[in-house]
Amino acid sequence: MRNISREEMDIQKEYIDKIYNMQDKSKIKRAFVETYGCAQNNSDSERLKGMLESMGYEMCDNTEDADIILFNTCAVRENAELKVFGNIGALKHLKRRKPSVIIGVCGCMMQQQHISDTIKTKYTHVDIVFGTHALYRFPEILYRALTDNRVFDTENEDGAIFEGIPYKRNDPPVANIPIMYGCNNFCTYCIVPYVRGRERSRSVENIINEVKEVASLGYKEVMLLGQNVNSYGNYFDEKVSFAELLREVCKVDGIERIRFMTSHPKDISDELIDVIAEEKKVCKQLHLPIQAGSDRILKSMNRSYTKEKYLNIINKVKTKIPNISLSTDIIVGFPGETNEDFEETIKVLKEVEYDLVFSFIYSKRVGTPAAVMDDVLSDEEKHRNFDRLLEVQNEISKKKNDAYFGRTEKILVEGVSKTNPDFMSGRTDSGKIVNFPGDTSLTGKFVDVKITETKTWSLCGEMI
Ligand code: SAH
Ligand code: SF4
Ligand code: F3S
Repeated sequence: MRNISREEMDIQKEYIDKIYNMQDKSKIKRAFVETYGCAQNNSDSERLKGMLESMGYEMCDNTEDADIILFNTCAVRENAELKVFGNIGALKHLKRRKPSVIIGVCGCMMQQQHISDTIKTKYTHVDIVFGTHALYRFPEILYRALTDNRVFDTENEDGAIFEGIPYKRNDPPVANIPIMYGCNNFCTYCIVPYVRGRERSRSVENIINEVKEVASLGYKEVMLLGQNVNSYGNYFDEKVSFAELLREVCKVDGIERIRFMTSHPKDISDELIDVIAEEKKVCKQLHLPIQAGSDRILKSMNRSYTKEKYLNIINKVKTKIPNISLSTDIIVGFPGETNEDFEETIKVLKEVEYDLVFSFIYSKRVGTPAAVMDDVLSDEEKHRNFDRLLEVQNEISKKKNDAYFGRTEKILVEGVSKTNPDFMSGRTDSGKIVNFPGDTSLTGKFVDVKITETKTWSLCGEMI
């Protein structure tokens, strides 16, 4: 694992200054950044925006006004990739009308050779292409594009840790804090280890300093991010467990809620379950992806646990933390999955009764072991199973939400509701979205809300 040195980061800071000094200060320069994929990518975009702001760009929310357009892409499923190609293709006319606009594509998709080759040859209006490993080199890449020609920086180098990049976070109260990068698990369907590199953890000191910094800026909640947070610190000379890190984060004054994502069942420890149970600040919420209920499929996915082992963990969690809210990820139609295998997944959903399930139809990823495995079910059958899963789960999610009816919940208000401008939106400790009548002065505050209506995906209430 490589740490990018201070000297290397200083070189990038010099490029930031060079671009800043190049700008005609009488004109506002604008940047449009669009993010696909997971929370990790969102966090990377916060850094891209931070660098852009330091270079003198203002953020804008449409491509027409922008002097630079960046797509931070996701490679996890084919539909995410198709959307990106569609959106880049649509910019051909804009580039013809306004040749000075810089169009950049970065992130996980660009870490795949066949994709960056396609952009190079077929999307010649794209000026910049760089992968996840080159994120910290963005200032240099942009400088070269502004002063010279197209830049492709997509080498498959070892993943590194870079500290000290400026951030432009979303407004308080919730701050995303990456605690580790990459993944070593190589689930057979998944592209993430190939595009994000080997697992590496940030130091406790750097994480705690960042948590303290966001606390001083008025953030009340932190979301700790990693593809597999349970193996945090595994490769340190002096091992620190994720549970120990959580206890340290709890000590930071001003931070009142702590969430984290994602946990891998194979690495979840009793120590972690105890910390969730004991620490008031750690939210009573656990996202624990099972992916499938059939042991045969779990083995073929290289998930390293059986259904029984998974359910034992869930039972332990439920016993120690009775008010825990549980969620999971499911893949439907993994190669070789039969209808009998799929029934095992349905059984798990019925037994666990998750609050929320994120389900996906299997998508073939070039270069992963599952891409060459044979299918048993037709696309039609996979879709039928997928629909059935949604139906089963929607009923369970609604039932779980119904249990909140009449309760008074402490809500951290995040902002205006996405569905109704007269409503504010926030979350319960368990992570449920609650909408209620209120005004923007409440943003960032804790309020007590009585739940008066329950839906499948959210709750409604009134402030008391
Ligand atoms: N590191 C996390 C999740 C990473 S990707 C974890 O291990 O839980 C988020 C989810 O996308 C995965 O949990 C999985 O359910 C889904 N996913 C990953 N690769 C996929 C593929 N090829 N097709 C369909 N879904 C996939
Ligand atoms: Fe992908 Fe598995 Fe790693 Fe999650 S744990 S990112 S699903 S390889
Ligand atoms: Fe997608 Fe990359 Fe995240 S592939 S899910 S954006 S790590």
